[in-house]
Formats: sequence, structure tokens, C-alpha cells
Amino acid sequence: MKPTSLTFLLALALLVPPLAQAQAARELPTLSGDDAAAAAADYQRYCALCHGPDRAGHANDHAPSLKSQSLLSTGFPWLLREAVAYGRPGTPMGGYLDEIGGPMSQAEVRRLVLWLYEQGGSPELHRVGIDRIAGDAAAGARVYEENCASCHGDEGQGVTGTALGNPTMLATTPDPFLRHAIEHGRDGTPMAGFADTLSSAQMDDVTAFLRSRATGWKAEPRPLVPPPALADAVLNPGGEAPEFEFKDGHYITAADLDRILKEKRRLVLLDTRVASMWQLAHIKGAVPIPYYSDPEKVVAALPTDGTWIISYCECPRAAADSVNRFLREKGFTNTAVLWEGIGGWVALGYPTAVGRADD
Ligand code: HEC
Ligand code: HEC
Repeated sequence: MKPTSLTFLLALALLVPPLAQAQAARELPTLSGDDAAAAAADYQRYCALCHGPDRAGHANDHAPSLKSQSLLSTGFPWLLREAVAYGRPGTPMGGYLDEIGGPMSQAEVRRLVLWLYEQGGSPELHRVGIDRIAGDAAAGARVYEENCASCHGDEGQGVTGTALGNPTMLATTPDPFLRHAIEHGRDGTPMAGFADTLSSAQMDDVTAFLRSRATGWKAEPRPLVPPPALADAVLNPGGEAPEFEFKDGHYITAADLDRILKEKRRLVLLDTRVASMWQLAHIKGAVPIPYYSDPEKVVAALPTDGTWIISYCECPRAAADSVNRFLREKGFTNTAVLWEGIGGWVALGYPTAVGRADD
């Protein structure tokens, strides 16, 4: 194994990429007394207003429970952290990460999420996985209308239940997590499980229906197609090189990336997350080069004529940073990493596409 693969693995275990969640989360670090006290204070200051002083939820704005065992055992620290960092724009849940204008650093968000797990009794984590659930979205729309719309809203906007049509939620939440909530509900909340009311196929259908809304509630469901080949990775081959200022040495901000994409500049955009995340939602034009790809093959397929190569991930940044480091070691100089990660990109309102090569 090459040192770079090791970096990839480290990024995987320490931070976020979902495949590692099940393994990593069993050994969540324990907070020191000082850290736990600081996290408890942050919770009361920033979260208790809506989620309640005891984390039971529904104190204001129908904020969900943060102590439900069903949530904690399937939510993974990664997923909760995305919700706290980037929020659910369009709902009362804002993003708290300083990078998108919130009051908390990455480390403080992480500490708070670990504290939520500790307070919740660190439940055993279910391996719900991240695979896409196949179902009939049209049939799922009917299931939704009859069983879900009264609480979650006709257009998934959220009423007493959460906003199931929220693009940031859907872009950062794997299907099996939704499916688990539908089947088992969320203990201690109005969300009862549907295990006895709906068939397994109906639960798959309604999950597929929710997924089909990832680019907007009124969007037409679109079939899943294979990602583009790395050989076709160069965007706007006839365009000029992009111009932007680095942030902190090798980062590009979401605003600059959005601008250079709109200016149709020549570049390669790499999505370094696990490939199924590319299917859920990605930045238009990105090619999936997961952190576990063979770095030599990736390098062999990339243009060596100085074309800019921009990487992003979920984390933000661990996986993309390691790919970027590797590219620079291999002599690629025009490389950058998206500062806000895809979570920040979506939360700031920049557009995404779902798993289709040609849009
Ligand atoms: C102004 C009210 C409000 C405040 C303050 C607030 N939240 Fe939320 N939160 C919500 C709402 C409402 C939702 C559900 C959003 C939706 O409909 O998707 C939510 C969702 C969440 C979720 C996703 C849970 C799930 O079931 O997927 C997490 C995690 C969360 N909040 C954590 C926090 C933390 C931690 C804080 C403090 C740093 C916080 N929230 C502050 C209202 C709030
Ligand atoms: C009686 C009202 C009610 C009905 C009916 C209902 N839900 Fe919910 N649902 C909720 C509430 C409230 C929550 C938030 C639970 C909490 O506090 O943690 C929720 C949470 C969820 C979540 C977790 C969302 C997240 O952001 O983590 C999913 C997924 C979900 N519901 C899907 C469905 C589907 C699909 C149906 C129909 C088959 C349905 N619900 C029917 C009230 C309802």
C-alpha cells in the first residue's frame, strides 16, 4: 500500500466518508470533562431553543428529537455533523459552521455531535449502509400522499414532521437512513414506524420517491446512469483557464467555483467521495474519483497540459485534500480543493445534479 492510500484510509477513518462509519463509529472518542462541559454549554446556547433543554425535540419549530435511539443508531456522527454544520436551508435549522457564516468551528461542531452521542448513551450503531434503494417512485408518490403528507407537507416542505423534500437533507442522507426512519420511526416522537402498516415494497417505493425529489420537489424522476469516464473529464475543453485567488494556499471558495463554471472555463472537477454519494447529488460536471481509486490510474488519465484540477468531498476536505496532495506530488501544479465541501456548496444555494452523466 502506498503512503497516499494510507492517507486516504486515515481520512476515511477519522473523518467522514460513509463506508467507514459503521466501523469507526463504534469507537467514538470519549470527550474529556472539559470538552463535555463546553459542548453542553454550546448545546444550551445554540440548540436548546428548538431541540429542547433535554434534547427531546419539538420545543420550537417542530425541531426533531436529538436523543431518539433510532436516529442516533443510524444517523452516524458524520450525518449529524453535516446537519449541524450546514443546516437544512429553507427550514428553521440553520448551518452553524463558521465557514458558511455560523458561530462554530469544525472542532466545536464535532465536539457537540460527540456529546450528543454520549448523552444518548452511545447506542450500538446499525450498519444501514449507503446503497441506493430501488423502488417505484411513482407508486411511492401515492404512498407518500396517503401516509406522510399530513405531517411532512404536500411538497415535502415540513409541517409537524421534518422537511423531507429539503435538498440539503437529501444530498447528505443515504437512502437506508431514510428507509430505517420510515420502518422503525423515531422513538419518543410523533414519527411512528410503518413496519406494520406498509409493505416492504411500499417502504422502498416511498424511499425511491423521496430520493427522486433530490433536485426539487417538482423535478421529473430521472434514471440512474453510469458516471462519465475520466477520459471525458475536461469541462469546457475550448474554454480559457480559470482565474481565482487561493484561500489558505490551495483552496477555492464555492463562490469562485460557481463563477468559473458559469464562465465556462476549462477545468476538471473531481468528486472524491464514495461513488454512491456522487449518485445522490454532485456538482454538475464532476467525475467521481473516490478516495479508494487507484491513484496511478487516475494520474494516467488526467490531462498534463496545465488544465486546472479541482477536487471536493463531503468532509469538508479530508479526502479531497489527500487527492490534491497526491496530484501535487506527481507534478500537477494547477490544483485546488473546494473550501466549503459539497455540504457547504449545497447549503450556500449553489446547484447540484443527480446521478446522470449528461446534465
Ligand atoms: C430555530 C430552531 C433550531 C435551532 C436553534 C437548532 N435547530 Fe436543529 N433542527 C431544527 C429543525 C426545524 C430541524 C428539522 C429541519 C427539517 O425539516 O429538515 C432540525 C434538524 C436538526 C438535525 C437533523 C436531525 C434529523 O432527524 O435528521 C440535527 C442533527 C440538528 N437539528 C441539530 C441541531 C444542533 C446541534 C443545534 C445547535 C447547534 C440545532 N440543531 C439548532 C431547528 C433548530
Ligand atoms: C404523525 C405525523 C407523521 C407522519 C404521518 C409521518 N411522519 Fe415522518 N416524521 C414525523 C416527525 C415529527 C419526524 C421527526 C421525528 C423526530 O422528532 O425525531 C419525522 C421524521 C421522519 C424522517 C426522518 C427525517 C430526517 O430528517 O431525519 C423520515 C425519513 C420520515 N419521517 C419519513 C416519513 C414517511 C415516508 C412517512 C409516510 C410513510 C412519514 N414519515 C409519516 C412525523 C410524521
